[in-house]
Amino acid sequence: MSKIEQTLSIIKPDAVERNLIDEIKNIYTKNNLAIKDSKKIHITKEEAAEFYKVHQSKPFYNDLCTYLSSSPIVVIILEGEDAVSKNRKIMGSTNPKDAEEKTIRKLYGISIDKNSVHGSDSVENAKKEIKFFFKN
Ligand code: CMP
Repeated sequence: MSKIEQTLSIIKPDAVERNLIDEIKNIYTKNNLAIKDSKKIHITKEEAAEFYKVHQSKPFYNDLCTYLSSSPIVVIILEGEDAVSKNRKIMGSTNPKDAEEKTIRKLYGISIDKNSVHGSDSVENAKKEIKFFFKN
C-alpha cells in the first residue's frame, strides 16, 4: 500500500552554480512530490562531515565533505505518496553514467561527485536528514 511520506532532497553545488534549482524543483512537482519547505544555505565542512557521517569510512568521504561545503546548496522537504522511493527513482543512479534516461542525474549530473542531487535512502534516514536541516 502506498503512503504519504516526507524525504530530503539536496540540490548540490554543481547544480546550484548552473542555476538548475527551478528545473529540478519542477521535476519534483510534476511527479507529485510537493515542496513543503526549501532553503538555500552554505554549510561548513564540519556540518557536511556530520551529515555524511555514515560514509566516514569510505575513501571518498573527505572529498565529499569538502565538495558539499564548497558553495551554496538547496535543501528541500518533499512530500507525497511513497516519497522516499519515488524520489530515488526520479534522481537515478548515484553515478550519472549509469543513471536511467530522464532522471535528474542523467539530465544534469557531471560525475559521481558532482551528481547534482542527494536524496534520503530510507524513511528512517529521511526523518533524520530532515531534522538535521530543519530543526524545529
Ligand atoms: P549521495 O547520494 O549524496 O551520497 C553520498 C555521495 O558520495 C554520493 O551521492 C556521491 O556523490 C558521492 N560519492 C563519491 N564517490 C562515490 C562512490 N564510489 N560510491 C558512492 N558515492 C560516491
